[in-house]
Amino acid sequence: MAQSLLAHVPADTLPAHIGIIMDGNGRWATKRGLPRSAGHKQGADTFSKIARHCREIGIPFLTAYAFSTENWRRPADEVGEIMGLLRRYLKDTKLHQDENARICFLGDREPLADDIKEMMEQVEHESAHRTGITINLALNYGGRDEIIHAVRRLSAQCASGEFKPEDIDEDLLSRQLYTAGQPDPDLIIRPSGEMRTSNFLLWQSAYSELVFMDVLWPDFTPAHLDHAILEYLNRTRRFGGI
Ligand code: IPE
Ligand code: IPE
Ligand code: MG
Repeated sequence: MAQSLLAHVPADTLPAHIGIIMDGNGRWATKRGLPRSAGHKQGADTFSKIARHCREIGIPFLTAYAFSTENWRRPADEVGEIMGLLRRYLKDTKLHQDENARICFLGDREPLADDIKEMMEQVEHESAHRTGITINLALNYGGRDEIIHAVRRLSAQCASGEFKPEDIDEDLLSRQLYTAGQPDPDLIIRPSGEMRTSNFLLWQSAYSELVFMDVLWPDFTPAHLDHAILEYLNRTRRFGGI
């Protein structure tokens, strides 16, 4: 924290929730003549450092986009490597203990391997009481998929007579999303130079400030995060008002 560019920023002006689209792992590796999997490995290390930094500067919620519903379109060996890294990450019995982090997973778990699903449940259970920061890992996450699941659940509840279609409002729908009970992201950061959100937190990002950065995720440092937050602090959020 002593070295943070944000040392003099009042804590209550910081974003309560930051989302990060961790993109650019493959290009990082290719540039170095390495297999793409080396980029994913380096990207996972970057995530650990950034999670620690978020805890240090006092960000209450951090969501990291790790694997999208569209990423299954990649070659099977790359998907396999990513799942292997995920297993290694989840196996860490001290996972984000230093950050006193509660860990949650956003996304459809159904297509994931049984051992991964079990580890996810265990990590969630073991970290549930922690209060330092909430870390959401978006795994097999898609914003459209999330909304479809929410609509299916609401439709079923309507059909069973729990409420009427006209009772459905933003609050009721939000409560069916993977982020139920959490604030919407104030700031979404996408490194790698791409300027799109690739199906990340579609509903929740309605009024998020977007910061696109020309750095590949494995090269992303705490200073990059601080710069993105400083840019966020310079924005005027109007939420449709004046
Ligand atoms: C992000 O990096 C990681 C995942 C999407 C799983 P990429 O693998 O998309 O890296 P680039 O965009 O090809 O460089
Ligand atoms: C977005 O990156 C998904 C994650 C970072 C997990 P992609 O690399 O999949 O996005 P596109 O294909 O460039 O839009
Ligand atoms: Mg990419």
